[in-house]
This record gives sequence, structure tokens and C-alpha cells, in this order.
Amino acid sequence: MMTQTSDIRPPVAVVEWVGGASDGFPRLLDQTRLPTETTFLDCRSREDVFDAILRLVVRGAPAIGVAAGYGMVVGSRVISDDANLATELETLGKYLESSRPTAVNLSWAVRRVLKRAKSTDGDAAAVREAMLDEARAIHAEDEQMCLAIGKHAEKLIAPGMGVLTHCNAGALATAGIGTATAGMYVAHAMGRKFTVYCDETRPLLQGSRLTAWELQQAGVNAVVITDNMAAQVMKEGRVQLVITGADRIAANGDAANKIGTYGVAVLAARHKIPFYIAAPYSTFDLSLQSGEEIPIEQRGSEEITRGFGRRTAPEGIATYSPAFDVTPVELIQGIITDRGILQPVNEETIQGIMG
Ligand code: MRU
Repeated sequence: MMTQTSDIRPPVAVVEWVGGASDGFPRLLDQTRLPTETTFLDCRSREDVFDAILRLVVRGAPAIGVAAGYGMVVGSRVISDDANLATELETLGKYLESSRPTAVNLSWAVRRVLKRAKSTDGDAAAVREAMLDEARAIHAEDEQMCLAIGKHAEKLIAPGMGVLTHCNAGALATAGIGTATAGMYVAHAMGRKFTVYCDETRPLLQGSRLTAWELQQAGVNAVVITDNMAAQVMKEGRVQLVITGADRIAANGDAANKIGTYGVAVLAARHKIPFYIAAPYSTFDLSLQSGEEIPIEQRGSEEITRGFGRRTAPEGIATYSPAFDVTPVELIQGIITDRGILQPVNEETIQGIMG
């Protein structure tokens, strides 16, 4: 049955603001517990929000941005000194920004809320009301951007196709229907049948724990593969399209995303499969010339050596754990944005769309 695209809903709210500006807090779906438990975490202080972002309770570039926007409001409540409000808010913003370095949506949202605070006259309570209003606007805008991405991306998904994705750039990573998954949800709502291959995504398994979970909830045909199966699955002719998300896109089109994405792009090129990135305008960072300048988060060794409780490497072993990699622009066929599909991807087309 065909569903109106406006009726497509994420399976569960990832971030929600509960209460008012003076007493409210962000409630986050605890994604570390999926796919077995649907539980929520209330963040009542700046430290709670910082910790939730760091531990990946909330994760995915746009969702981190939305959570951080609300984090600015809840974190500002301890500031009682109206005279130093601007300085204190700046300190709070820097603190939240330092929780995870790669996704630019985090600092984009923090800076937006700070700008609104600076342009608001009145006492701390009035400023806090304005900040909440801005955080809510970021939240609502993200939902709309996902839908817009979906309407563009849907055209790339033909009946019977195999579409591969990596990590989770889905509803769980945004306030809407995701970025990489947005076209899948729209095509599915239009009655199209296709298969999504979800890379498991070592070490934290966002592909199998999150993407497979949300697609299954929506009735999209999803198949989990381990990361090292992607080459074989492509060679067998099961994949005709790759769509992943991004955490930060530089001015030349180089795109950072979850570790392993670069490898998928190389494999797609080898098998002549178009590789697309899906991302809203808030993921572009035109202050960086190329992907070389994108900061790459390093994660702790425990995530590799005992990811889900069981030791899988010898005690005391050294590890190296970059959480993201950068796919060079020459491997990217197009970037599906809320403002249209960028193709070819280069400085001019990016400038054109970013205005
Ligand atoms: O470490 P994570 O789970 O936050 O990594 C998420 C990703 O890499 C996503 O693909 C990216 O943030 C885009 S989300 C629409």
C-alpha cells in the first residue's frame, strides 16, 4: 500500500525535550541498549548531555546536533550571573563541542544556539527561552531536511535493487527518517521492493544493532552482512547502489563518515557501483579545504578488545581505533542533500548549493 511521504515516521523519537525552558531537559533514546531494549535517558545537566554524546547514547551527526542544542539550554541553568552570561555560555558551548570532534553538526548547532542567545535582549530567563526556541527550530528543521533528502534519493532506488549502507545514517541518527535511509523509506512507502545490505560496522555494530533494527521495524527488506563480506556480496552482483551518511564534508567534497566507509567506496569503485553520500547542509564545513583537515575521533581500546562484554583480544594488547575515515571526492558519485543531488561533486557545485 502506498503511504504519503509526509506520513513516514521514524520508529521511535531519538531526542525529545520534556518541560519548559526553566525546568525541562532532553530525553534521549539510549541507543547503546538497542536492539534488545528501548529505554530512555533524561539528561538534567551539561555533564549528562556530554556523557550521553561521548558514550553514543545519542549518536549520528544530526542527532548529536539536536541533542547539543538542547544541551545548551539545560546546561545554562546553573548560570546565575547575568553579567557574565555571554562568557559562561561560550564556555558551555566549547565544553559540549569537545564531547565528539568529527561530526560538524555538533558545533553547528551549538554555534546557532549561541548566536540566538547573543542577539536576545533581557535577563538569563529570557535568553534561555530564546535558546530553547532555537534548539526546537534545529530539531524541526532536521526532520524536514531528512524528508527532502528522501524525496531526492528515492529516484536512485529502482525496483529489485540491492542497496548497501554502512553504519547507521538512519532515523536513529537524526530527528527524521535519516539521511542514507531517507530514500529507502520514501521508496518503500511508494511500494517499491528492494533489498538493503546493512554492513554490521565494527566495532560498535551500528549497522546490525541500529540500521537493521529500524529498517525491520518499517518493513524494509534488510540483510545484515559483516563488514568483510561487502566485497564478495558486490562481486556476486547483489549490490547496485551504495548510500552512506557523513559526519563532515569539506569544501572540496571529501567526506568523513564511520570507519570503514572509505573501504566500501573503494570496493564500489572496483565493482563499478555508484557510491553516494546523503547529508543535510548542516554537515558541510566550508572552512576546511579538504578532508585532510577533518579531525578524526580516536576511541578507547575496550571497544575493540571487549566490545560487548566478552574479551576478544589478549589482555594488555595495543590497539589503534580511529572512529571515522575520509572518502576522497573522486570516489563519490554524488551527494544527496536536502537541496538536491550534487553531481558531479566539486568546489563549484558545493558552493552553488550552499549559497
Ligand atoms: O559513531 P557514530 O555512530 O555517531 O557514527 C555515525 C555515522 O558515521 C553516521 O553515518 C553519520 O553520523 C551520519 S548520520 C545521518
